[in-house]
Amino acid sequence: MTSLLLTGIAELATNDPARTTAADPLGLVPAAAVVIEGGRVAWVGAAAAAPAADAAVDLGGRAVLPGFVDSHSHLVFAGDRSAEFAARMAGESYSAGGIRTTVAATRAATDEHLLAHAAGLVAEMRRQGTTTVEIKSGYGLSVHDEARSLAVARELTDETTFLGAHVVPPEHADDPAAYVDLVTGPMLEAAAPHARWIDAFCERGAFDADQARAVLAAGAAAGLRGRLHANQLGPGPGVQLACELGLVAVDHCTHLDDADVDALRDSGTIATLLPGVEFSTRQPYPDARRLLDAGVEVALASDCNPGSCFTSSIPFCVALAVREMGMTPAEAVRAVTLGGARALDRDDVGALVPGRRADLVVLDAPSHVHLAYRPGVPLVRAVYRGGVALS
Ligand code: NIG
Ligand code: FE
Repeated sequence: MTSLLLTGIAELATNDPARTTAADPLGLVPAAAVVIEGGRVAWVGAAAAAPAADAAVDLGGRAVLPGFVDSHSHLVFAGDRSAEFAARMAGESYSAGGIRTTVAATRAATDEHLLAHAAGLVAEMRRQGTTTVEIKSGYGLSVHDEARSLAVARELTDETTFLGAHVVPPEHADDPAAYVDLVTGPMLEAAAPHARWIDAFCERGAFDADQARAVLAAGAAAGLRGRLHANQLGPGPGVQLACELGLVAVDHCTHLDDADVDALRDSGTIATLLPGVEFSTRQPYPDARRLLDAGVEVALASDCNPGSCFTSSIPFCVALAVREMGMTPAEAVRAVTLGGARALDRDDVGALVPGRRADLVVLDAPSHVHLAYRPGVPLVRAVYRGGVALS
């Protein structure tokens, strides 16, 4: 097995619990080096103490971070909703009803088109530093279309999520209970072989707490772990439900009361914040500072989807979280690396410590702060996944 030594690292963000402190949540190592062997991190430390390796690359004084872990996206879809975005910027408000537009286009698309389109978005993410991505279904909403959406997602990632409970599709509009029966019965049966997770959109106009509970319970019985979209468009019961069920993460968390924050802290459920959504829907941002100060673990993800947020860029989300949500640059970078890994219950990614997969982002900058300091600038210079440099 050949080993590779990366040198010329001005600042290395490790997320190593042995190095992190309250003042340094990234466990930074200045003037660092990393050794990669067999696709894994083999050694991390000060360059002056680096061991010999078979080959070496000098990164020229750049910052290196763990690869980004995007724990929430909806990449399997067809169609275009740019006109809906333009109307919103002209004063219309966001409505989850737009999801049905994408459902119609997705049902009409071929498997080949869905895969090529989603693969293009994954490639776009990779170029911006994302080395692990979760992908949901949710724009098929029939047994056949949810199963094939997940089969497409499975071609691109191991982190696949069945979101049949996204909205009630038009053909079931007059009988939502029958649709929940479909989701928890035949649709789940067809989806489960392709999915690791099950999710529901628990929101006024989508599914209430009892329906979401039924979906998650059926998923658990089929061996799928639960996640939830909750408290996005207004206050609601979703966050409390996620905490009661001990879910690993609950996503959006835009409208929270004190009891929601207490429940998140007490349950240890991660609050995954999706600032690109508030940017694209012109809504107030979630209060990350309040959550962090209360002792809640926060992750940040893109929520890349054609309706509420069509960005694939984790660097953009970091910049928004710092500028608009009270996070320090270090907290935001931790939230898109270790935070995302924890939100997917993964202990093999999200940190640069020996044994973890060698997923690294090399920035064209001397420190992680530049991700927020230079918004909109393509700072990702190189990306390694499993020790292999992506071209
Ligand atoms: O996460 N909240 C529900 N689902 C997506 C939006 C989907 C859409 O508008 O197409 C979200 O924001
Ligand atoms: Fe979402």
